[in-house]
Amino acid sequence: MAKITFITGSGELIVAKGTSGSVMELAVKNKVKGIDGDCGGVCSCATCHVHVNEEFWDAVGEPGELEKDMLEFDDNVNKYSRLSCQLKVNEVPDGLILKVAR
Ligand code: FES
Repeated sequence: MAKITFITGSGELIVAKGTSGSVMELAVKNKVKGIDGDCGGVCSCATCHVHVNEEFWDAVGEPGELEKDMLEFDDNVNKYSRLSCQLKVNEVPDGLILKVAR
């Protein structure tokens, strides 16, 4: 079971727990504002964009090529950007903190 804290654009903290599926699906299930998952998780919309807390970056890791290409179209990209549909709940570090990219 991974515990993930989402910080929304308005500063609201939402703590969600899950065991499977993608981080985007967990966020949508927990009504995290700003994570929409419009493409259903196939890496083609970037409405699941998050900034990984710096402390967890090494454990989460770099985006893949397809994800990088998708992120290029988003204005709010920084060096900690990931698309949460590409992160698996059972692979991310427990206690992970993600900020919703506005
Ligand atoms: Fe569309 Fe992640 S849900 S890119």
